[in-house]
Amino acid sequence: MSDLKDVSKDFVEVVKYEEREFAPPADFVARANMADPAVYHRAAADPEAFWAEQAEHLHWFQKWDQVLDWSDAPHAKWFVNGKLNVAYNCLDRHIEAGKGNKVAFYFEGEPGDQRVITYQELKDQVCQLANALTELNVVKGDRVVIYMPMIPELVVSLLACARIGAPHTVVFGGFSADAVRDRINDSTAEIVITADGGFRRGAPSGLKVNVDEAVKGAPTIEKVLVYKRTGQDVDWVEGRDFWWNDVVDRQSTEHEAEPMDSEDLLYLLYTSGTTGKPKGIVHTTGGYLVGTTYTHRNVFDIKDDDVYWCAADIGWVTGHSYICYAPLANGATSVMYEGTPTYPAPDRWWDIIERYKVSILYCAPTAIRAHMKEGHQHADKHDLSSLRLLGSVGEPINPEAWMWYHRHIGQEHCPIVDTWWQTETGGIMISPVPGLTTTKPGSATFPLPGIEADVVDEQGNSVPLGHAGFLVIKKPWPSMLRTLYNDDQRYIDTYWGKFGNMYFAGDGAARDEDGYYWLLGRVDDVMNVSGHRLSTAEIESALVSHDLVAEAAVVGQPDELTGEAIFAFVTLKNRAHPGDERDFGQELRNHVAKKISPIAKPKRIMFTPDLPKTRSGKIMRRLLRDIASGHALGDTTSLANQDVVNQIQDATTSAAQDE
Ligand code: WT7
Repeated sequence: MSDLKDVSKDFVEVVKYEEREFAPPADFVARANMADPAVYHRAAADPEAFWAEQAEHLHWFQKWDQVLDWSDAPHAKWFVNGKLNVAYNCLDRHIEAGKGNKVAFYFEGEPGDQRVITYQELKDQVCQLANALTELNVVKGDRVVIYMPMIPELVVSLLACARIGAPHTVVFGGFSADAVRDRINDSTAEIVITADGGFRRGAPSGLKVNVDEAVKGAPTIEKVLVYKRTGQDVDWVEGRDFWWNDVVDRQSTEHEAEPMDSEDLLYLLYTSGTTGKPKGIVHTTGGYLVGTTYTHRNVFDIKDDDVYWCAADIGWVTGHSYICYAPLANGATSVMYEGTPTYPAPDRWWDIIERYKVSILYCAPTAIRAHMKEGHQHADKHDLSSLRLLGSVGEPINPEAWMWYHRHIGQEHCPIVDTWWQTETGGIMISPVPGLTTTKPGSATFPLPGIEADVVDEQGNSVPLGHAGFLVIKKPWPSMLRTLYNDDQRYIDTYWGKFGNMYFAGDGAARDEDGYYWLLGRVDDVMNVSGHRLSTAEIESALVSHDLVAEAAVVGQPDELTGEAIFAFVTLKNRAHPGDERDFGQELRNHVAKKISPIAKPKRIMFTPDLPKTRSGKIMRRLLRDIASGHALGDTTSLANQDVVNQIQDATTSAAQDE
C-alpha cells in the first residue's frame, strides 16, 4: 500500500498548473434535467426521501415499506419488501406507454453489419430467450455465465436472465478459458451462454473454443447455448451444446416477467482485488436500478431524442450499468458497437457519431489518448455537430486529454462529465452535473447529490482542503455492492475494515481549495491499465505458475497511453535454462495471456537474480514501483539485500535506453 506522502506528491503534480474552468453553456443549462443547485442540500438533508423520490421513476409491482435498512451494517437493504422486475422496467413499461417503435439500439458490428432494434423487437427476443432458458431448466436463482462478443444477443441474454430471476455473471470476451473456468466454479453455474466467436481487429476470434476448454475443469456445467456470430468451425458435444437458432427462435414472444424482491441477486461481476482470487461483486435488484437510472438521467442529462453511445464493453460494469440497464430503463436510444475504435481506419468512431447523429458519448481516457495519438484530422473530417455532452470513465483523465476531447470532439461547446465510480459502487458517485457544475480539466468535481464522500487520513479524520488522503463514502447508497459472493468476511475486511463505519474505495484523492475532488489512483495493489482493473497478485501468481519462474513482483508504471503499464520483475529457478531472454520474455507474456487475458500481459519484464525484500522476507513492491516510475528511492535501510536494488536500477536505466 502506498502511503499518504506518495499520494500527496501526486496531487501537487496534478493540480499545480490547472487553473482553467468551464462553466456549463447557457443553452445546456436552459434544458438540463437537473438545474437547481438546491438539490445537493435537499438530498443531504434527507437522503432517504431523496432516494425514494428517485425510486418513483421505476415501475414496482409492489411498493417498498422501508427505504433503507442499515441495522445490519455494513449490509444494506434498500427498498425493503419492494417487488419489481428489471427487464420489465427496461422493456414492457415503455411498450405499454406506446414507445414500442422507439429504437433501443443502433447496432454496428466490426465488419460493418448494421441492425436497428426497437424496444418491441428487443422485448420479443428477450421473451424468447427467457422461454428457451426455462426449457433448458434454468429457474429463478440459478446462476448463468455469459461469455459473448459485443452484439445485441449479449444484451438480450442479460435481460432474459433478469426477466426469469436467474442472476448472470458476465465474463469479458477478452478473458481466457482459465478465467471462464474460475468464474463458473465460484458461481457454480450450470449453463454458459456464448457465441462461436466475435470480430476483433478485422478477424474472428474464438469464444466457444475457450468455453470448451473451461468446461473441462468446471463440472457443474450441464449446458452450453451457442449463438452463431462468425460462422467459424466449432467443436460440438451432443446433449450439452445447443445452437441458439435451434432453441430460441422457435419460442413464443410472450413471457411474464418474474416479480423479484428488491434485494434479490441481479448479478455477480468478478473484479480484481489485492489477492490472486477475483472477487464476486454482488449487486441486487431494486437499489441497483434506482441508482443507475438516477445517475444516467442526471449525469448524462438523457432526453427522449438523444442518441447515446457508451463505448465500453458489457464485460465490465460500465457496460452493465450504462449500456444495458440504465439506458433501457430510462427508455433511451443507444448505439452499440462491437469492435476496436480504430478499425478499419482511425476515424471509425467519428464516422459512427456522424452517421447515427450521436449526441452523448461516454468512453475511457485511454481511448481518448489513443485517438489523440492518431491525430484530430480524423475527427475533423466528420460532422460531429450532433454531440452535446461528453463523458469519461475508468481512470483519471489527464488535463491534456481532457482539453483535446473538449476542443476536437466537443468543439468547445459540450460539457465533459468525468465520472468516478467502481464495479463495487454499481453507478456513478463523483461527477459533474452537466447543467450545474463548473468543470476543471482532470477533476471529477463533486460527489453527486445523495452521495456523501470525504477524503480522510490514516485515522479516518477528514483532511483539510488542499490536502490528499483516502477516498471514503460515508453513507450507504442504493446501487452499492451488498457483499462478495461466498466471502462476506472479505467484503467486511476489504471495504469496511480500515475505517469501520466508512466505505474505503481503495483510491487516493484530494480536494483543492475550492473543494473539487481530484482522483489520484489506487492506493492498494491494484493497477488500472487502459481503464481495466488488474491485480498485481493475480499476475504474479500467473507468472509463478510457469515452470521456470521462482518468484515475481508486479508493479504499475506510468504510461502515456494506457495510464499504467504492467512491469514485472522475475526471478528464475536456480537451474532454469530459459534460453534467449527476449524469447523467454515473450513466452512468459503469452503464459500470462493464457492464464488471465491478453490485457494482463506485462509490457516489460525484467529478469533479476533476486527481489528486494525486507528482513522478514516481504517483497518491497513500493521500492520496485519507485524504480519503475523513475522516482527517487526513499529509505532502503530495512532491506535485507541492499545490492539487488542497485543491480535492478542499473538494468532499468539501460533497458529504458534500449527502447
Ligand atoms: C477504479 C474502479 C467505473 C467503471 C470502470 C472501472 C478508477 C474509475 C475513474 C475516474 C479516476 C477512476 C478508480 C476506481 N476510476 N473512474 N473518473 N477518475 N479514477 O471500474 O474496474 O471497478 O475500477 O477505476 O481507481 O477505484 P473498476
